[in-house]
Amino acid sequence: MSTYSENIRKVTTHRLIEMKKRGEKISMLTAYDYSMAKLIDAAGMDVILVGDSASNVMAGNYTTLPMTLNQMIYHGAAVTKAVKRAHVVVDMPFGSYQGNSREALASAIRIMKETYADSVKMEGGSEIRESVERILSAGIPVMGHLGLMPQSINKYGTYTVRAKEESEANKLIEDALLLQEIGCFAIVLEKIPAELAERVAKELTIPIIGIGAGGGVDGQVLVMHDMLGFDRHFSPRFLRRYANLSDIITEAVQHYIKDVKSQDFPNETEQY
Ligand code: KIV
Repeated sequence: MSTYSENIRKVTTHRLIEMKKRGEKISMLTAYDYSMAKLIDAAGMDVILVGDSASNVMAGNYTTLPMTLNQMIYHGAAVTKAVKRAHVVVDMPFGSYQGNSREALASAIRIMKETYADSVKMEGGSEIRESVERILSAGIPVMGHLGLMPQSINKYGTYTVRAKEESEANKLIEDALLLQEIGCFAIVLEKIPAELAERVAKELTIPIIGIGAGGGVDGQVLVMHDMLGFDRHFSPRFLRRYANLSDIITEAVQHYIKDVKSQDFPNETEQY
């Protein structure tokens, strides 16, 4: 397990592409606040995603749609303050780039100016081509996002696996090639068959980061709250839990309540 000390070299888009070239897998995890971002960065994460999944895990919404640009900027700015090494990418929220490319650029500029992030992430392929191109032309790196795109949940009606049908798989491959051609530095593929994801990763030269897309891609991303086990009821097939924080936190909080009630806390050494 690598951790950093001195001589910290920031993870750039160029370094991520180099990692793919030499077959080094890319680790990516979400973070939404200063304290967690600090721990995740110090642990050696390559990419930290300030995801619009903040809508679900931070704000308690059922979808990512309610997230606003101001809210993403709030989370993004908190994360970048803590991060020394990881590449920080901030999700462009629903409604901040689909309208037209001018609005999209204005939203991306606000994210870059007000959060100090390294790049932005956008959901979609050919439909958002103009917006992606305009943002790229301003020198802002863009990470694409294809497959299950949570901002389109009302179109799909379900969070099940995407691109199982040939026509949707073909469209996904075309979109991935298009995003690479116009200059995206990486693409997230969410919840698609592993075989399809591996094919895309092999055909493209930019890194493909999967979530529920199997092991044949160039890196993996998970939502931090899911992999740390904040919600013991959320257990999709693709998720591996690395901790059971819901039990650990509940136990600690109950212990504290008990100590307060019994007047065990504070004791003589815990007062002035
Ligand atoms: O918002 C998010 O957390 C994401 C990941 C699921 C990739 O986009």
